[in-house]
Order: sequence, then structure tokens, then C-alpha cells
Amino acid sequence: MNPLLVVDDITKKFGGFLAVDGVSLSVDAGEIHAVIGPNGAGKSTLFKLLTGVYTPTRGTVEVSGTAVTGMRPHGVARAGLVQVFQTSSIFPRLTVEESVATSLLATSGMSMSLRRRDWVRLRDEVASLLGDVGLLDEARSIAAALSHGDQRALEVAVALGCRPSVLLLDEPTAGMSPFETERMVALIKTLREVRGVTIVLSEHDMDVVFGLSDRVTVMHHGQVLRVGSPVEVANDEQVIAVYLGGERV
Ligand SMILES: Nc1ncnc2c1ncn2[C@@H]1O[C@H](COP(=O)(O)OP(=O)(O)O)[C@@H](O)[C@H]1O
Ligand SMILES: [Mg+2]
Repeated sequence: MNPLLVVDDITKKFGGFLAVDGVSLSVDAGEIHAVIGPNGAGKSTLFKLLTGVYTPTRGTVEVSGTAVTGMRPHGVARAGLVQVFQTSSIFPRLTVEESVATSLLATSGMSMSLRRRDWVRLRDEVASLLGDVGLLDEARSIAAALSHGDQRALEVAVALGCRPSVLLLDEPTAGMSPFETERMVALIKTLREVRGVTIVLSEHDMDVVFGLSDRVTVMHHGQVLRVGSPVEVANDEQVIAVYLGGERV
């Protein structure tokens, strides 16, 4: 099987500082892949290189066999690689269903002069996405008024509106209560099972990493320290040394 996402030697220099240093990564279709590492390891910068927010100093990114290196984020999204972003800054006044509909409309290139059957399809698709993320009851709520956990779920639904093959989540459980964290973990599993989405996430909560991931990449000082199953990584001496070094996991 060919991997869905192939990253080769991706590198980002900020001035003289190598934030991401020759990272290679390959993720299979349907895989849930965690990127972990201490604070400042380069995880968020790596994600921004993958989605075209940053232009790499060196290296390439391929999605479903399409080279996306150097493309702008909307081009990368069209190729199927989409990152979940905070919608609170994008859609504060829209309702939950309007936010998701906007995302679907933007992706499909449909105009607002839709025919009746397009409206029906759009309505059904919005309902299906809201059902998957557990927000059907909040469809008419204003996005900005949702609880933190519900806002994160809406962000996932909006990203899914772009019909990604690979979804990137940078610290999806940050700032969440244990209950909200559990719900996010269940949601990520559902996305893989129901929608067949391949997922790459960065995460500092090791219970989440162990509960979700097929494989884990450990980053340290911008480089890949180790790739393996959660158990392999957790028992690796170098990985343990990095985490016992007093740096935040
Ligand atoms: N835009 C930037 N300019 C300069 N340095 C940056 C920039 N973004 C991140 N860095 C630095 O790159 C390193 C990696 O940061 P980041 O990717 O945010 O790490 P992580 O997400 O693993 O915590 C850090 O030392 C950070 O200070
Ligand atoms: Mg980060």
C-alpha cells in the first residue's frame, strides 16, 4: 500500500535557527499518527510546513501522490490535507449549521444561487457532519456561544467540510477537561471509522496518544528521534531520557 502522506527531509530555518530539521514521515491511509515531543520540539512548525502556512527551507510534501510543497493552504486543502483551525476567530456570529454550510459551499465552489436539489444535499451533508461531531442539538446556536469542547467539535466539523483525506490536529485536547478530552478522543476515532479520514495529531496527553495512535513520531530539537508503535516509543531509552530531562511532555 502506498502511503497517503509522504514528507521528505522537510526543514524550516528561522534566521539561523533550525526549528524543523530534516523531518521525514510517511502516513498510511486510515492511520492515526501522533507527533509528540517536548515543548519547542518543532511540532507546530512541522504542521504549518505540511499545510503551506510556512514555505519550507528544504524538503517536500506529497498527499495522495500529489506534490503540495510550496502551495498555499487552500491549494494544499484542495489536495486533501487540512488542518483544524480555531473557528472562533473566523465565524463568531454564524450559527453552528451556517459555519459548516459555509465551509461546504467554499469547498464545492457552489454559488449561493443553488438549485433546490443542491440545497437539499447541502442540508443533509451539514446534518451528517454535525451528527458525527455530536452537535446536532446545537445546530442553531451561535458559534461563539458554544462551550470550549463544543467549539473544538465545530472546528473539526468545519475542517471536515473541506472533505479532507488527511486531517491535522495540533494539540486537539489542549485546555480541555477530562470529560471534553474523552469526547474528543471518541470523535477522532469516529472520524477514522465512519469517514475513513487519516489523522495526524500532536498531543501532550500520553493517555490520549496511547488510546488513539497506531504509530507515534517523537520529535526533539526539530528532528525525528524515534518512530514506532506507542509501546515501542514508550520503552525507548532515548525517548525516556528526553522526557525525564525535565522538559514538558
Ligand atoms: N515564527 C517563528 N519565528 C522564529 N522562531 C520560531 C517561530 N515559530 C516557532 N519558532 C521556534 O521554533 C521552535 C519550535 O516551535 P514549535 O514548532 O512551536 O514547537 P512545538 O509545537 O513542538 O512546541 C521553538 O524554539 C520556537 O520558539
Ligand atoms: Mg506546538
